[in-house]
Formats: sequence, C-alpha cells, structure tokens
Amino acid sequence: MRPADLASRKQAGLPITVLTAWDALSGALVAEAGADAVLVGDSLAMTVLGHATTLPVTLEEMLHHTRATARGLASSCSPGQEPLLICDLPFLSYQCSADEAVAAAGRVLKETPAAAVKLEGAEPETLAVIDRLVRSGIPVMGHIGLTPQSVHRLGYRRQGNDAPSQERLRRQALALQEAGCFALVLEHVPADLGASLQQTLDLPVIGIGAGEGCDGQVRVTADLLGLTSQQPPFSPPLLQGRTLGVEALRRWIAAQEYPAQEPPTAPATRPATPAAPHC
Ligand code: KIV
Repeated sequence: MRPADLASRKQAGLPITVLTAWDALSGALVAEAGADAVLVGDSLAMTVLGHATTLPVTLEEMLHHTRATARGLASSCSPGQEPLLICDLPFLSYQCSADEAVAAAGRVLKETPAAAVKLEGAEPETLAVIDRLVRSGIPVMGHIGLTPQSVHRLGYRRQGNDAPSQERLRRQALALQEAGCFALVLEHVPADLGASLQQTLDLPVIGIGAGEGCDGQVRVTADLLGLTSQQPPFSPPLLQGRTLGVEALRRWIAAQEYPAQEPPTAPATRPATPAAPHC
C-alpha cells in the first residue's frame, strides 16, 4: 500500500483502516488483522514508554520503534503486500524550521521502511513546513482537532464545539489539502464536522472520535485491546486485554507456587513460530 492508494480507496468508496503499532509484535498483529495503514504514533510515548504526555519521545526512539514495527509487518506479509507504514514526527522535530523538518522526515524515510510521516497542526508555519516536505518528495499526513502535542495549550478536550472553531478547522483542513497532504487525521471533533469534511475534501479524512462519516478510522491499538490503564472516551476497548493478561499470569504464577503435578523430566522444546504470510 502506498500513500496515494488511500485516495484511491476514498474514490472507490472503500473504508480505510489505520491502526497504531510500536514494535514487531504489535506490527505483525495489526498487519495480520488487515489494517490498510500502520501508524507508529507518538502515542507510544504514553502507551509503551510510560510518559505522561507524547512530548518527551525523541526522533531516535521513533526511528527505533518504526524499524521494529516494519520487521513485524515483513514477518506477516508477502513482500510488497505490507500495509502503508507511517511514522509520527515527534514534538520539536519539525516546529523549529523547515530545514530541521526535512532533516527529521528525511531520516524517517532513509533509515526506516516507512513511506510517510504524520505531523500535527495547520498554523501558517506548519503549512510552510508541509509544503517544503511535500516538495522534497516526502508524503505527509496531517492531523488536526485534538492534537496531543499541544496538550499544554488545548488539553485533551473535544475541539470544534462552536461555529467559529468549526470554521477554523474547515479552513485548516482545506489548507492542509492545498499544502499537499495525502490524508488527514481528524481527532475528537463533532461527528457532523467529520462527515462534512469527508464530503468537502478530496483527500481521505481518517477519524478518531470524529464520527462514522469519515473516509476511514484510526485507533491506538493498545486502547482497542484494553491494554492501557485508561482509554479515551471516544475509543472504547474491544476486550479487557490488561485484565485478561494479568489474570492469566496470576494463574501461571500460582501454579508455579503450588504445582499440581511434577514438572516433566525432559525440558520441553519451544515450537518454532511458523512464518506464514497473512497479507
Ligand atoms: O500518536 C498516535 O497514536 C496518533 C493517533 C491517535 C492518530 O496520532
């Protein structure tokens, strides 16, 4: 899957699914599940690295997690059949200057198999950066609405709650399209705004907490699997993965403490993982 294939899916009226991943295990999981695109989101700062916000994660860490995720995709898919791999540009890797943004995004494309980057916001400086990246041959996914890198200014509140702020988001979405973004993440805004931007824009609108009328949906996989201690209200878990995991491990620990039977005399050999392609 290439960045332009997402627009083809929009034109064909096909839904687009994007899931986050952060390592080879989660990458293989979401590829096997059939995601069209895999985002190594900077949410991994919170879900995987234990930070309180997305701000501390570094470019080096994003490169490391993107390479690991790519290995997971390669292990699950036939060559050329992998989902599109997108890497988030972390806080301060693109805000200081267009030159630094090109250097950071260029490292993503040179040093990992990712084919695109995502960055947040649509202020005039950010639009200039996106224009420069796109003209340098770097596909960019935009992200507006709730933008976690601006948590200290906007919090995690729903955005676009009144007519003026909806109008501002519309202008930003159009400007991102004009700057050359190949797709747009729209986070935590009213559903009618999501549906109306899906109609207005040529580029695919990928929603999270933006209603069902978008061209596609993106979710943080750790939230969907119920692995994080708290999920955002617009992303309820599909299963209680954390509770299930803890309970299973507790049962295993208890069985070691009070073995029901003698352990086998010969050590069991670990079966090899089959390398069957799933996509
Ligand atoms: O970092 C991330 O996981 C994201 C998604 C919420 C879209 O940006």
